[in-house]
Amino acid sequence: MHKFSSKSNIGFIGTGSVGGSLALSLHKNNYPVVALSSKSNKSAQKLAKMIPNSKAYKSLNEILDRSEVIFITTTDDAIETVVSSLKWQPDKAVIHCSGAASTDILEHASRQKASVGTFHPLQAFASIEKGIESIPGTTFAIEGDPNIKNYLKDIAFNLGGSHIFLKPEDKVLYHVSGVMLGGLLTSFAATTAQIWDSIGLSREEGIKSLSHMMQQVSKNLTTLGIPAAVAGPYPRGDIGTIKKHLDELYNKYPKILPLYCELALCALPLAIEKGSINIETHNEIHQIILEYKKLSS
Ligand SMILES: NC(=O)c1ccc[n+]([C@@H]2O[C@H](COP(=O)([O-])OP(=O)(O)OC[C@H]3O[C@@H](n4cnc5c(N)ncnc54)[C@H](OP(=O)(O)O)[C@@H]3O)[C@@H](O)[C@H]2O)c1
Repeated sequence: MHKFSSKSNIGFIGTGSVGGSLALSLHKNNYPVVALSSKSNKSAQKLAKMIPNSKAYKSLNEILDRSEVIFITTTDDAIETVVSSLKWQPDKAVIHCSGAASTDILEHASRQKASVGTFHPLQAFASIEKGIESIPGTTFAIEGDPNIKNYLKDIAFNLGGSHIFLKPEDKVLYHVSGVMLGGLLTSFAATTAQIWDSIGLSREEGIKSLSHMMQQVSKNLTTLGIPAAVAGPYPRGDIGTIKKHLDELYNKYPKILPLYCELALCALPLAIEKGSINIETHNEIHQIILEYKKLSS
């Protein structure tokens, strides 16, 4: 099996948020990023100006000719089509960064004896600039051929991150956890901040203040762990406050009520695990939530 190292020339097909962030971070860490390509070629040309010794190419065959390791950082849906459009060889490696897909979608390349792998940064990339900032400390989920797993593990380490190895069949569930605590958490934050509109303040003010608290929640989770980090009226068993929440949402934000009820149902067993409420209080709150859940359906 061909060996790849930090000296192997790298090409990127797809130079959006993830491709751009990875390409620039690899370049800053002395990996030779030499060839770039994107759908419109505009983002690839812009990136090439920031990476000395790299060039933007319109033809994907050029990317393959000039690189030993090719990262396909297009949208998920385009990965298989791009891989299938190229002729691979045993001295090439192809890697994609999708969280939900495994190396299965690189089968066309592995049949032609190229090495294959996946390298998923467990991070939310909203832009190249923010992406570069966020890479140190990020966990990268790796799957693939043994030679590629080692190569990608070294990249994760050299970019200041850490790695986990995944089995192909576990990728979708792994990705569900990432999306729930990443993209969907962002939507959840936006939904929550919208409540501030009703109290004479703006969503923007809301998200600023609530995000500061979220940062502390994140710190508590990583330092204290689960269930010690759990806080608020549920682990306190504050039934009066909980009823007020449910009533107010029922009257003013009926659309948010089901979401609140589901989250509250997740909070209750953690309050028991923390040992901060007894089973009687648990059962009383549980019953109240179920009644409101019924009302909201
Ligand atoms: N965003 C995240 O938070 C995140 C996190 C972890 C992993 N990922 C994974 O990273 C990959 C890239 O996501 P992204 O958020 O960086 O996407 P993105 O910002 O939309 O960028 C996609 C890039 O792919 C190019 N592209 C699309 N179709 C193409 C094709 N057929 N041929 C060549 N280039 C093509 C686009 O070209 P143009 O520039 O010309 O439009 C663009 O440069 C995906 O597999 C995604 O699942 C994303």
